[in-house]
Amino acid sequence: VRWNEVVFSLAKDVERAVMPLFGKPKAGEVVGTNVSGDVTDYVDRVSEDIVLERLRPLGINVVSEEIGFIDNGSDYTAVVDPIDGSYNFTAGIPIFAFSFALFKGEKPVYGALYEFSTGNYYEAVPGKGAYMNGEPIRVQPKPPEKAALSFYTRGRGIGIIRRVKRVRVLGAIAVELAYLAKGALQGVVDVRNYVRPTDIAAGTMIAREAGAIVVDDTGKDLKIRLSAEEKMNLVAASDQRTLDIILEEV
Ligand code: IPD
Ligand code: CA
Ligand code: CA
Repeated sequence: VRWNEVVFSLAKDVERAVMPLFGKPKAGEVVGTNVSGDVTDYVDRVSEDIVLERLRPLGINVVSEEIGFIDNGSDYTAVVDPIDGSYNFTAGIPIFAFSFALFKGEKPVYGALYEFSTGNYYEAVPGKGAYMNGEPIRVQPKPPEKAALSFYTRGRGIGIIRRVKRVRVLGAIAVELAYLAKGALQGVVDVRNYVRPTDIAAGTMIAREAGAIVVDDTGKDLKIRLSAEEKMNLVAASDQRTLDIILEEV
């Protein structure tokens, strides 16, 4: 299977189906509850149906944000979020993405994010680097006082905001991890015990391949499980110095 071609064309199919709904109330109609206890909006359902239909012939296992784990007895598992940033999508904020991460057993083999509004396609080939539209990308470390951070908190670690120059909370953590990978942010932090593997699997692969360090709130390497339910804390940084400052504060 040429995963880059399959996944890119899948992302384009999702784009075609959902973009007419961008910023429309219909997109945000609640149609159910997902496996992690969050609501499923109409746009989540439409996009996931396409993903499942297109992946079915491949016979791989699928972990998708709304439906959870589909075990097809394969060695390969795709951890997918058809749309990361549903709120943004429905509200008409153009920051959201299709997220796809492929594992053989527990080993990452391919990760991709498609950012609909810019048409940027990010990829990770473990051991071979991270790319945006086919060009290599790399993190861009800065001294903390010049750094830009994405920081999700419910109060924990709030001192971080005084130690960096800029804080951005964009509402689609998959996209924010891609921004870290391309050097637009120096860190992505979520200490709400809230993000799931589906939100961050591809983003983590891409950020790591671009040189980022991705750990949990205790500083341990972040392990991505093949699950749509597990809640995690994530600390990702372009360099050790930024990481240390974040971990000191949380
Ligand atoms: C959400 C986004 C957001 C994060 C939330 C997620 P969804 O995913 O990743 O950045 O803060 O925790 O639920 O529901 O839009 O796919
Ligand atoms: Ca998500
Ligand atoms: Ca989603």
